[in-house]
Amino acid sequence: MKCAEAGNMSNRHFSHLLSGVWLLWLWQAVSVVGTGSKLWEVPTGRFTSNLSESLQWEPRCQHQRLQDSVRITADIPPRLDGTWVSTRCEVRPGPEFLTRSYTFHPSRHFQALQHYYTDSGCEDPAYSLIIRGRIRLRQASWITRGGTEAEHHLSKVGIVVHSLAAKQRLTSRLPPTCVGLRLGGAVPGKLYELYNTRAGRGCLAALGFSMMEMSLVRVETQHHNHGGKVQELFLGDIHTDWTQRTQYRPTGYQQPLQNAMHHIHPCSVCALVYRSSEQRPPVLPHRPAAPLALDGRWVSQRCETRPTVLFLTRDFTFAPDQHAWEGLYRHYSDPACSQPTFSLRASGHYAQGNPSVKLSGASEFVFKVTQVSVTAMDEPTAKLLNSTRRGKCGQAGGWEVGVEQDLTPTDGCTVLGIKLPHKEYELFKTELDHRKHPLLFVGERPTDGSSPDRPTKRPTSFQAPMMLCSGGGTQPSRLGFNSRQVQLATSGTVRLAQLALLVFGSALCSWLCVY
Ligand SMILES: *[C@@H]1O[C@H](CO)[C@@H](O)[C@H](O)[C@H]1NC(C)=O
Ligand SMILES: *[C@@H]1O[C@H](CO)[C@@H](O)[C@H](O)[C@H]1NC(C)=O
Repeated sequence: MKCAEAGNMSNRHFSHLLSGVWLLWLWQAVSVVGTGSKLWEVPTGRFTSNLSESLQWEPRCQHQRLQDSVRITADIPPRLDGTWVSTRCEVRPGPEFLTRSYTFHPSRHFQALQHYYTDSGCEDPAYSLIIRGRIRLRQASWITRGGTEAEHHLSKVGIVVHSLAAKQRLTSRLPPTCVGLRLGGAVPGKLYELYNTRAGRGCLAALGFSMMEMSLVRVETQHHNHGGKVQELFLGDIHTDWTQRTQYRPTGYQQPLQNAMHHIHPCSVCALVYRSSEQRPPVLPHRPAAPLALDGRWVSQRCETRPTVLFLTRDFTFAPDQHAWEGLYRHYSDPACSQPTFSLRASGHYAQGNPSVKLSGASEFVFKVTQVSVTAMDEPTAKLLNSTRRGKCGQAGGWEVGVEQDLTPTDGCTVLGIKLPHKEYELFKTELDHRKHPLLFVGERPTDGSSPDRPTKRPTSFQAPMMLCSGGGTQPSRLGFNSRQVQLATSGTVRLAQLALLVFGSALCSWLCVY
């Protein structure tokens, strides 16, 4: 088959570039296409039809009650119309603290408000950006299944500085020629143009500003069984390396914004952000820092998307009295987390360090991974692992679907990029959600797929929060997390040449993509 050949060729050519999970992913992509399954087919060019996924979330913790179950749908192309707002003080790599309110009009024009703060609680506004432009949805993403690629065009970016101190910090960062802010002459509270179609982007770049997040969009609608509906807008992720962020084409997502009309109740932050303007930034109410109590079992709240095409759910258990930790990472090939590919169980020890200087309310940690087991959950993965050389990845020839293998005797697994023992520098924080239930934020993985194995690589932002299972302290159950009723309906053809490009695009993912 032509397609499969193209895939195999790219596989052979670039395998030296590939490591870890990527190889696995490519293998799966090729084999799925090879068998003529529709799963990897995406419309090329403009949308040839609509694609809609839907899934039913079962309760994620055993003790959760059934009325919590939610049906989630996601349409391709997504409908962006309306205003979408932050639900909490957001943290971007750096760290940067901000709240966002984005409005999309049916005419494809958008107006995005970004309010930046000096503190991790978004209580002290520094400056606001008002961004105007147009967005055009292009095609279903073939890199990030379930996402839609879009193009945007900026027409204007304005800035309002909220204090003299903020102005001083900005003028020291910005080139002296930046409109309005020249010679530090800007007046707090007044709108200045930072960019328009006639001016260059020097000032924007100096701010580390880009709207590349608009290159990848996804809208999820949660249908709660008591009748309510929540809509979330996922925009592309921000590169963790500051020098990359203005050019980076996202393949994962940031934490979602919620629709101002359909958001989780109660959400006091939503209302504040919705009512804000560039002149009147939202000042979030002070929240006393919750003490970090890790004890118990924490699970993902949804199917998570990692940059470079990984869909996974995480399930962690901490036993602070023994400084022991176990993480279960279930990997899937689809954005509904319904088609498992492999799961990875890692365990070891951890030590809590100092409170973070950069991020008040967060704490530094060091994790040591000493043991890893992997279970292949589908035939292609089992075959791939089975074909590894003796002594490189568990028991060669011993891989079977659904049977867990301990990788500790082989010090990890070369093909998955796992090397044991392994050390990581982490950043954790906890927060209460709208129902006053604890949430755990674990540090964002470096976007380039490397691992934070040095203190200088410690994260400055977070992954999607995990929720605490009631009855904490229980062991992770193997299948506490179920998804059902997945329907994917799509048409169009896949272009395998694009798969090869994909490999170029991100060959650097090492095993800690897995996290
Ligand atoms: C796709 O969805 C849009 C918006 O929901 C709808 O207007 C359009 O008719 C749909 N097209 C097809 C081919 O189903
Ligand atoms: C793995 O290899 C062994 C020995 O060659 C073979 O018996 C087994 O069927 C293989 N398993 C899979 C899933 O390919």
